[in-house]
Amino acid sequence: MAVEIGGIGQSVKRKEDARFIRGRGNYVDDLKLPGMLYMDIARSPYAHARIKSIDTSKALAIPGVLAVITGKDLVPLKLAWMPTLMSDKQMVLPTDTVLYQAQEVAAVVATERYIAADGVAAIEVDYEPLPVVVDPIKALQPGATIVREDREQKDNHIWHWEVGDKAGTDKAFKDADVVVKQDIYIPRIHVSSIETCGMVASFDKVEGKLTVWMTTQAPHAIRTVIALVAGHLGLSEERIRVISPDIGGGFGGKVPVYPGYVLAIGASVLTGHPVKWIEDRSENIQADSFARDYHITAELAAKKDGTMQALRVKTIADHGAFDAAANPSKYPAGLFHIITGSYPFAKSFVEVDGAYTNKPPGGIAYRCSFRVTEAAFTIERLVDVLAHEIKKDPAELRLQNFIPPQAFPYKSSLGWEYDSGNYAGALKLAMDKIGYPELRKEQIEKRKKGELMGIGISSFTEIVGAGPSKHFDILGIKMFDSCEIRVHPTGKAMVRLGVKSQGQGHETTFAQIVAEELGLPVGDIAVEEGDTDTAPYGLGTYASRSTPVAGGATAIAARKIREKAKLIAAHLLEASPDDIEWKNYKFQVKGVPAKSKTMQEIAFAAYTNHPQGMEAGLEAVDYYDPPNLTFPFGSYICVVDIDRGTGEVKIRRFVAVDDCGTIINPMIVEGQIHGGLTMGLAPALYEQINYDENGNIQGGSFMDYLLPTAMETPSWETAKTTTPSPHHPIGAKGVGESATVGAPAAIANAVVDALAHLGVRHIDIPITPWKVQQILKAKGVAE
Ligand code: CDP
Repeated sequence: MAVEIGGIGQSVKRKEDARFIRGRGNYVDDLKLPGMLYMDIARSPYAHARIKSIDTSKALAIPGVLAVITGKDLVPLKLAWMPTLMSDKQMVLPTDTVLYQAQEVAAVVATERYIAADGVAAIEVDYEPLPVVVDPIKALQPGATIVREDREQKDNHIWHWEVGDKAGTDKAFKDADVVVKQDIYIPRIHVSSIETCGMVASFDKVEGKLTVWMTTQAPHAIRTVIALVAGHLGLSEERIRVISPDIGGGFGGKVPVYPGYVLAIGASVLTGHPVKWIEDRSENIQADSFARDYHITAELAAKKDGTMQALRVKTIADHGAFDAAANPSKYPAGLFHIITGSYPFAKSFVEVDGAYTNKPPGGIAYRCSFRVTEAAFTIERLVDVLAHEIKKDPAELRLQNFIPPQAFPYKSSLGWEYDSGNYAGALKLAMDKIGYPELRKEQIEKRKKGELMGIGISSFTEIVGAGPSKHFDILGIKMFDSCEIRVHPTGKAMVRLGVKSQGQGHETTFAQIVAEELGLPVGDIAVEEGDTDTAPYGLGTYASRSTPVAGGATAIAARKIREKAKLIAAHLLEASPDDIEWKNYKFQVKGVPAKSKTMQEIAFAAYTNHPQGMEAGLEAVDYYDPPNLTFPFGSYICVVDIDRGTGEVKIRRFVAVDDCGTIINPMIVEGQIHGGLTMGLAPALYEQINYDENGNIQGGSFMDYLLPTAMETPSWETAKTTTPSPHHPIGAKGVGESATVGAPAAIANAVVDALAHLGVRHIDIPITPWKVQQILKAKGVAE
């Protein structure tokens, strides 16, 4: 029956793919409204400059250009600045100074997209370049150029954040047999989703109603932000409708509010026409929020035998010119304190300092729950540094130290309560699958012949499902999520959620949860997300929170319906509700399968023959506040061969064992893992965005920013263990980000392992052929 209805655990084909594979997806840029105008944005060529003047006359003289908006136009509207989700403020358009290259300087509204672009080209801005600071370490030194002159605080320090037992950790380090220390830089990268960001804003002057179609992962939060930012202009929340149609990948990059959105709304209010703004590829990669950019110093204290005791981590986080990340308010460095990973450190201490630089805003959670990738990379790298230091096999060292299954729920020394885990189970399965002992033997033989082969492990612990509202909020809005289910008289259902899929397959998987709970076929259940006029309020999809939070809401809303359905079944079967049981996806009189009612029969009765005194209808809503986060985990093993001539790293095999608790749809989960692994390979070997000393972006196009293609992507081998979450209504944990979190360390560890006998302990990612070749030359083994 579970197979027939397409319930939990079935690889149901994705319902949404019917439109995607026929080219019938409905993205923001597909929308065309009558009388629609187009907006394009002029951007700064300088990373830091005073704006002496902006001459818009030539742009305005172009036929078809209707308006040019500059910062000065926004001042009287109190819109030149907007609040960020991190309680900082960000320029919508500058009035006197630009703070990074590609920052928005003016917006042109025209009758056609290319006329708008001509208008942008005709704007003349007189800039006076100012000194630039791009390195956050230099930015924090006394006398550094001040990025944010608008602040009272006259330095580049944003915040200091720390957690853990400093004195206890310091003491543990003093007393330890072995201490390893590693500087790790995790470079700036960009999500580069297939679809860039954009919006169609349509303001109805008569009704005073604003409708926006936009590329956002969190439509409800955006509606509230618009009301807060522009409420004084008459945009009140009941007259704002945010529609997030199909989204071509978000990965965290579509959570922030970009100036372009505010400008498109402003342009529609100003002109009374719908206005479309779609970023081009270069704007997307050069100006939208970035991820990572963490400068980390990590230390691990252990006993001689490798027993891990304490962890101490100091980090400088480069947030660019505005702290515009979307971390939960309480955690400016995100959930970086998951950095104790899969190991029971008795003592640990983590501190992070945020810094401003002349770069676009950084800090977005790129396919991770707020800095978890940085944390997982650091701890998994550090474990290998320790393994090499004490000459112990890295698998053995991990197996020796893992938090054991019986220790769950496990409270980490940095305050998290891990729900469930079986770390040794996952690593052993990965070792079996890849043939670990044979690979180690092969490596010894290869080394004798001078060949370079490495094996890298990453046994990461993830943290997803923000979050319990006692700890998690964004701009004060608690991080619950929601589901509303309506079962129609003919037994078909409409499910609406506060989250928003960007390709994860929600239309299928949420329908599967309802199918499982109500016994309705998955094909009879429509799932709708992303329209704030119809969906219940929720915080959106990022940080793999949909399954842990909205998935919980879905199961509980369905269970509320089942409770009512039971009363109707009792009425139809002329039995007491106490004598009714739910069996084989039907209600039956206990022990009498012949006396049963299907959910379809009950649904019809809910509108036609319900008990006297009972409200008609069969629907429920749930706002789910999870009691805890969920802690998915996995063990990845990567085998690399290194070319001594070119320094090229070739991934020979990569085995990924993941555990996300109860799996709703195995096929979708596998797809999530494949995509995530490729997104983990990317920063490990290819992607990085650098800036020269003048703040010019190096890597602002796909000519220099090397996204892996099918050519570079190895054939991933996946497997799973299943350790359900004890507190989640269906035992599920999130999975969307796991592979991106876990993969980089496995690859980096494999490369370092290949070179470890030469004395190499660490290489910063991306591990490019050039970097490897320099090392091979320095060690005298280059061919
Ligand atoms: O929040 P987001 O949708 O990005 O991440 P997720 O909750 O990890 O889910 C990604 C996709 O995998 C969704 O379609 C989920 O329903 C599916 N999934 C699943 O089938 N089983 C799980 N235990 C976790 C996720």
